Amino acid sequence: MKIFADTANVEDIKKVNELGIIDGVTTNPTLVAREGKDWESVEKQICAIVDGPVSAEVTADRAPEMFNQARALSKWADNIVVKIPMTAEGLKAVKVLSKEGIKTNVTLVFSAMQGMLAAKAGATYVSPFLGRLDDIGASGIELVEKLRQIFDNYGYQTEIIAASIRNYQHVEQVALAGCDIATVPAKILVKLWEHPLTDKGLAAFERDWAEFERLQK
Ligand code: E4P
Repeated sequence: MKIFADTANVEDIKKVNELGIIDGVTTNPTLVAREGKDWESVEKQICAIVDGPVSAEVTADRAPEMFNQARALSKWADNIVVKIPMTAEGLKAVKVLSKEGIKTNVTLVFSAMQGMLAAKAGATYVSPFLGRLDDIGASGIELVEKLRQIFDNYGYQTEIIAASIRNYQHVEQVALAGCDIATVPAKILVKLWEHPLTDKGLAAFERDWAEFERLQK
């Protein structure tokens, strides 16, 4: 499974990118606003760091403005993917953009039919939001499982990005469900490689080795 970093923080992206585990990045208006910097320069910096798709989201809500904004965003860098909200206007925009060869990520997907329509419109990616579904007592993982089955049933090439990831279990569950990508916030990425028993085991090895060396002298 591919792993994307779900952040617009350039320093965090540099750190995780150095580990060689990052295949792309997703941003959204909330994440960019949190950084308090110029949007275009933030996205361009991220695109220069990461060798993979970087999603930047349109802020327009009508199809004609979405087209124009998407065309402008796609010129910021070769690896920009334009994020389009899952609305009727968004579907119109995705259909046109996909014909123009502009890659799209349909975001705010909360049902299997929303995801299927996005795939039919030609979306490159769809982003089901796990955490926000779990928050209202629904099941984010069930949505990913349904999308996997529907896309496999009909051979849709659209890749599924599990978004709104809140914990380690979400990442493990979507990997088991055959999801193509999980986009993971920096604070949860750390949890993928850390384990207390690894730290404990390493401390014991270091202690035993130091004792062995002391006895050799
Ligand atoms: C990524 O594409 C989404 O915008 C992001 O994962 C949403 O996460 P949140 O529900 O924690 O805001």
